[in-house]
Amino acid sequence: MAVILKCVAWVAVLMATLLFRERVNSEPTQDKQALLAFLSQVPHEQRLRWNQSESACGWVGVECDATNSSVYYLRLPGVGLVGQIPANTLGRLSQLRVLSLRSNRLSGPIPPDFSQLKLLRSIYLQDNQLSGEFPPSLIELTRLNRLDISSNNFTGPIPFSVNNLTHLTGLFLENNGFTGKIPSIAPPGLDHFNVSNNRLNGSIPSALAKFPASAFANNLDLCGGPLPPCNPFFPSPASSPTLQPTVIPSRKRNRKLSTGAIVGISIAGGVLILVLILAVIFFILRRRKKRESPKVQKPPAIAATRAVGEAGTSSSKDDITGGSAEGGERNKLIFFHGGGYSFDLEDLLRASAEVLGKGSVGTSYKAVLEEGTTVVVKRLKDVAAGKKEFEQQMEVLGNIKHQNVLPLRAFYYSKDEKLLVYDYMPAGSLSALLHGSRGSGRTPLDWENRLRVAVSAARGLAHLHVSGKVVHGNIKSSNILLREENLDACVSDFGLNPLFSNSTPPNHRIMGYRAPEVLETRKVTFKSDVYSFGVLVLELLTGKAPNQASLGEEGIDLPRWVQSVVREEWTAEVFDVELMRYHNVEEEMVQLLQIGMACVATVPDQRPVMQEVLRMIEDMNRGGGGETDDGLRQSSDDALRGGSDDQTPPRASPPGVTP
Ligand SMILES: *[C@@H]1O[C@H](CO)[C@@H](O)[C@H](O)[C@H]1NC(C)=O
Ligand SMILES: *[C@@H]1O[C@H](CO)[C@@H](O)[C@H](O)[C@H]1NC(C)=O
Ligand SMILES: *[C@@H]1O[C@H](CO)[C@@H](O)[C@H](O)[C@H]1NC(C)=O
Ligand SMILES: *[C@@H]1O[C@H](CO)[C@@H](O)[C@H](O)[C@H]1NC(C)=O
Ligand SMILES: *[C@@H]1O[C@H](CO)[C@@H](O)[C@H](O)[C@H]1NC(C)=O
Ligand SMILES: *[C@@H]1O[C@H](CO)[C@@H](O)[C@H](O)[C@H]1NC(C)=O
Repeated sequence: MAVILKCVAWVAVLMATLLFRERVNSEPTQDKQALLAFLSQVPHEQRLRWNQSESACGWVGVECDATNSSVYYLRLPGVGLVGQIPANTLGRLSQLRVLSLRSNRLSGPIPPDFSQLKLLRSIYLQDNQLSGEFPPSLIELTRLNRLDISSNNFTGPIPFSVNNLTHLTGLFLENNGFTGKIPSIAPPGLDHFNVSNNRLNGSIPSALAKFPASAFANNLDLCGGPLPPCNPFFPSPASSPTLQPTVIPSRKRNRKLSTGAIVGISIAGGVLILVLILAVIFFILRRRKKRESPKVQKPPAIAATRAVGEAGTSSSKDDITGGSAEGGERNKLIFFHGGGYSFDLEDLLRASAEVLGKGSVGTSYKAVLEEGTTVVVKRLKDVAAGKKEFEQQMEVLGNIKHQNVLPLRAFYYSKDEKLLVYDYMPAGSLSALLHGSRGSGRTPLDWENRLRVAVSAARGLAHLHVSGKVVHGNIKSSNILLREENLDACVSDFGLNPLFSNSTPPNHRIMGYRAPEVLETRKVTFKSDVYSFGVLVLELLTGKAPNQASLGEEGIDLPRWVQSVVREEWTAEVFDVELMRYHNVEEEMVQLLQIGMACVATVPDQRPVMQEVLRMIEDMNRGGGGETDDGLRQSSDDALRGGSDDQTPPRASPPGVTP
C-alpha cells in the first residue's frame, strides 16, 4: 500500500515537473519558425543573434503575449536588414499587434501575405527603400491605427480604399514618389497625416484641410486646404484670384456665428427681441453700405445680423437649398427645386474639371465633385445684367420643367463670377454625334433617331416658347443634348441673351444658325428661334454643319445651299449620304425638308410659330409607301414646288417654300 502511494506520489511529482517544464519552455513554435525563416533569408547585423535553442519570446526585438503562445510585437528598427521582405515569413505571425522594421535597408514591395496580419494595430516601415505601389495588402488590415511607410520609394496613386482602414489615427506617407490626386481620406479619428515630399497634384480634399501646410509641402501641384486656393475650372486669369478669398472666409464666419447666435437666442426671449431690433438696424446699415462700396469687407456686426437672420428663419442649410434669390446670402450657390443635389460652392471649386466647350456666352466645364456627382458648370463671360436682373432671369429659367429642356439646377452670382449649374448629359450633343469623327468606324445616326431628335427638340422649344415665354436665342446642334437611354433631345443654353448687352459682337460660331434679321436688329425673337430650328432640321437632313465651309461656294449658308440644290431639281442630293442606306424613308425625309425650309423663310412673318412646327413634325406621314429612288426625286420635286400637297396635313402647308 505504502509502495503504491509512494509510486503515485512520485508519478505526480514527475508530472508536475514535466508540466512546469512545459510551462517554462512554452513558446510559440509556429511563430518561431516564421521568425527564423525571415532572419535566415534577410541579411542583417551580427548583434541580432536569435538562439534557436532558447524561447523566441526572449529574443531581441520579440515580445509575446502573457502565456508565451504567440508573438505580439516585433520591433527590429535599425538592425541593418537588407533586401526584400520574403513572403511566407512575417506574414505567418497571425497574432502580431505591432511591427516595426523602420530604419533598415529593406527594398522591393511589401509581400501580399501581410494581409494575413489581421490583428496588426501599428506598422512602422519608414526609412527604408521599399518600392512599388501603395501596398494593397495593408489596406486589408482594418484594425490599423498607425500606418507609416514614409521615406521609402513608393510610387503610384494613393488609393481611395485607404478609407477601409477606419481605425486609422496616423497615416504617414511623406518622402515617397506618390503621384496623382489625394483621395478624400476620412477615417474619423485621423489626427496625424503627412504626404509632404511626393509628386501629388490637384486639390486637397476638405476632409484633410485641417492638417497644416507642412503636411502637404513639396509636391508637384497641390492646392486648396491649407495651401493657396485652386483655380479648378477657372483657367482664365481675369477674375479667378479674387473668387476664392471672398467666398470661403465669409462662409466660415457665418457658420461660427450662427451657432453662437442660436445659443444667444435660446437664453431669453427678451434678448431675442432686442437682437431683432438691432438686426433690423444693422440690416439697413448693411444695405446702405453695400450700395456705397460693394467690395468692402463685412464688419463683424453685420455678419452677426446675418447670422441672426439665419437662425431666426431656419437652419443655414435652407439658405443653400431654399431656391430664394432674394438678396441675403451672397457667395452662395442658389439651387432650384429638384435634382436632389447637395453641394456648395466650395465643393464645386474643389471639383476636378474638364473643359467641355467654349461657347459664345462662356465656357462649359464638366465638374466631378468629390462624392462622385457630375454636373456641368457654365462660366458666363461679359455679363451685362446687374444682380437683380440676373436673379430674375434665373428665377424664370430655373422654373422651366420639361423633359426636353435641360434643367438649370443652380446659379451663382458675384461681381466677378457668374456660374450656372446644369445636369451632365453623358451622351453628348447632336453636333458631336452628327459630325464627330465622320467615316472612321462610327455608327451613323440613323433616320429614326434623327427624326426623334427633331421632334423632341421641337417639343422642348415649343415648351420654352409657349409655357416659359422664353426665347431660346442660341439654337445650334451643340446645344441639343441627347439622353443616353433613348437619344431624346434636350435643349440647353436657353434664355441667356437678356444677360448680355446688345452691343456684344455677333459670334461667328453661331452665324450659321442666326436669322438674317438678327444681324441688324441684334434682337432674338420667337421667330428667330424658328429660323435657327429650321437650320437645325436642315443639318439633320444634310449631315452638313451650317458653319462649315464645305457647302461648295464660300459665304453661302446652309439654307441657301439647300434652296439652290432643290431649285435645280437635285433634291435627292441634298440628303446626307449616310441616310441613303435606309429605304422607304424618302417620303419622310422630304416632308421634314419642307418643314425645315418653311422655318428658314427670310421674312420672319412667313415662318410658322414653334408649336405649329411641332405639330407638322408630329403629323408627318410615318412609314409611307415603298418608293424607289426614282420615285423620291419625282415626288419630292413635286412636293417642294408646292405641286402635291396631299401628303402634308392641311394646316401644315408651309409658306415660303416655293422659290
Ligand atoms: C544558445 O542557448 C543555449 C542554451 O541556453 C546555449 O547553451 C548556447 O551556447 C547558446 N548558443 C549561442 C550561439 O549563444
Ligand atoms: C515567456 O518567455 C519569456 C522569455 O523567454 C520568459 O521570461 C517568461 O517567463 C515567459 N513567460 C511565461 C508565462 O512562460
Ligand atoms: C527609387 O526608385 C527609383 C526608380 O524606380 C530609382 O531610380 C531610385 O534609385 C530609387 N531610390 C532608392 C533610394 O532606392
Ligand atoms: C474596401 O472595403 C470595401 C467594402 O467593405 C470592399 O468592397 C473593398 O474591396 C475594400 N478594398 C480593399 C482594397 O480591400
Ligand atoms: C496630375 O498629374 C498627372 C500626371 O502626373 C496628370 O495627368 C493630371 O492631369 C494632373 N492633374 C491635375 C489636376 O493637375
Ligand atoms: C511632414 O513631413 C515633413 C517631412 O518629413 C516634415 O518636415 C513636416 O514637418 C511634417 N509635417 C507634419 C504636419 O507632420
